[in-house]
Amino acid sequence: MKTQDNKYVRIMVITIVLLIAVTAAYVLYIKNASDNVRVFDADSDEVSIEVFNPEGKIWEDMYRYPGHPCGAEYSVNVYNYSRLRLSDWTITIVFDGPFEIDSSWNGVFEADENTLTFTPEGELVFVEPENSRYFGAVLYSRYLLNVESFEITGRMPLDPFAMPLTYIIAVLYVLWMLYVGSHILANARIESLLKQRAHDLQMIDQSIRTFTSFIDAKDSYTRNHSLRVAIYAKEIGRRIGLDDDKLQDLYYETLLHDVGKIGIPDEILRNKGSLNDEEYKTIKTHTGKGKEMLKDFTAVSNIFDAAYYHHERFDGTGYPEGLKGEQIPLCARIASIADAYDAMSSDRRYRKSLSREKTIEEFKENSGTQFDPELVPVIISMIEDGFTDRVLDEYGQDGED
Ligand SMILES: [Fe+2]
Repeated sequence: MKTQDNKYVRIMVITIVLLIAVTAAYVLYIKNASDNVRVFDADSDEVSIEVFNPEGKIWEDMYRYPGHPCGAEYSVNVYNYSRLRLSDWTITIVFDGPFEIDSSWNGVFEADENTLTFTPEGELVFVEPENSRYFGAVLYSRYLLNVESFEITGRMPLDPFAMPLTYIIAVLYVLWMLYVGSHILANARIESLLKQRAHDLQMIDQSIRTFTSFIDAKDSYTRNHSLRVAIYAKEIGRRIGLDDDKLQDLYYETLLHDVGKIGIPDEILRNKGSLNDEEYKTIKTHTGKGKEMLKDFTAVSNIFDAAYYHHERFDGTGYPEGLKGEQIPLCARIASIADAYDAMSSDRRYRKSLSREKTIEEFKENSGTQFDPELVPVIISMIEDGFTDRVLDEYGQDGED
């Protein structure tokens, strides 16, 4: 769950950083391209001009500008054939002769010999895409002028809303937000399911523990016995490397190992003297009774294994089947050791609890005969590192109430 989470967070961070980087590069590109001052001349396909003298606007006036007898209105159309707006433009037109400006409009005109420079004002500073603007002036010259060359300088700012990449980036942001949003929703859902699951597990655990407390209550010497055995067993399982699911099953299997004692008469279980053969025989039936009781409990497969086989011995001299070695299910071999430890660490009707040294000695002595020799070092390590003491501190030692 944690690693999944980290993976999602990493993907979210990497993608948003990439998106921001792409956006920044894109914005920078638009800004640079928009600020770039461009030059258009007669060879340009994007911007062009047409100069003409309107009809009736050509006249001769010998007196107005000495040496410049020919006057005319020169109208200029500036065409923008591109799909971008031309802005802040200035035009320089070189005519084939010198002239004087008589009058002009819509901008600032400058004349220098053959050259006319015009900078528009007002709305004229823009020439919209696939559109044109018009300006004009009355010029006096020696003869009717022709255009030799022209040059327009201006900017063509990019329009982000006319560029597909803008929409692609916007869609990527939307996708990113959907991804993050769905992840947050999914997380919330998973969290509520996990809560529900934890609650269900707690209910199952409490139900079984309540049930096993009835078993333990039948024998006043074994309060919390089943729970401690289950805790020891689970720890043994953990130390030999069982996975979480197996540990959970092992916990329930061993928690229920003495379930068959429900069917044993109280007077035998509580017998303070030593048991006669008949009574001992009756006690031994608790394994079979346990199996019988748990046979319909199918949520944990073979949950009855610990109940049925926990009195088997590794050397094959136990009961009820006399199984040997690894024929005995692992959970039962573990239950046997956990059960024995709990018996040794508890005060019983016939003796006080054993010392730590004596307990370890017992396990060593019975390794390979009563107990699985591979599990004995595990329980000894749990005794030595204080695990078993902590369980005893928390869940109490047995003894008569
Ligand atoms: Fe038992």
